[in-house]
Amino acid sequence: MKALILYSSRDGQTHAIASFIANELKEKCNCDVVDLAHAGHVDLKHYDQVMIGASIRYGHFNAVLDKFVKTHSKTLNQMPSAFFGVNLTARKPEKRTPQTNAYVRKFLLTSPWEPAICGVFAGALRYPRYRWFDKVMIKLIMRMTGGETDTSKEVEYTDWQQVAKFAKDFGQISFKKSH
Ligand SMILES: Cc1cc2nc3c(=O)[nH]c(=O)nc-3n(C[C@H](O)[C@H](O)[C@H](O)COP(=O)(O)O)c2cc1C
Repeated sequence: MKALILYSSRDGQTHAIASFIANELKEKCNCDVVDLAHAGHVDLKHYDQVMIGASIRYGHFNAVLDKFVKTHSKTLNQMPSAFFGVNLTARKPEKRTPQTNAYVRKFLLTSPWEPAICGVFAGALRYPRYRWFDKVMIKLIMRMTGGETDTSKEVEYTDWQQVAKFAKDFGQISFKKSH
């Protein structure tokens, strides 16, 4: 069983989640983890299943996500597939499902791709690593939404058990297909 996990990540958290999922699945399948920005050469037909994960920045997924999905929607819709979104809104459990997370809900509503399973994971807040403008903006958003405002802090909100469950579900869609 061969799977492809594509990720779009600016500060590394979505990449870390993609790598964690590949590791969770290592007994079951051989996973390639590839940056979506460098996936132009990838032939989806070499894989039995595919997952795409992407993070939010200032309200939007990276444009490479839409571009890839539009180009490959037909193939994506013909294979077992999964999507997950990563953002800080999802640090609140009630905003951590595809139905309640505005970014993921909107993506699914407008996308020509219909992934079999979808997930939303809380990302990480890493103030010390942000440039001045981003630090000011994120602090403002955190103040407005009742989050962490101490800019000396790094906080990882990702629920790794939730990610492990998602990996297991993904492993099972492929299992159903091949047996
Ligand atoms: C400049 C910047 C803008 C962000 N904008 C949003 C946003 O609009 N909504 C949100 O929920 N999270 C936002 N986030 C939080 C990121 O989605 C979160 O930090 C995530 O872990 C980033 O994943 P990545 O490291 O894979 O890029 C923002 C983070 C940064 C640094």
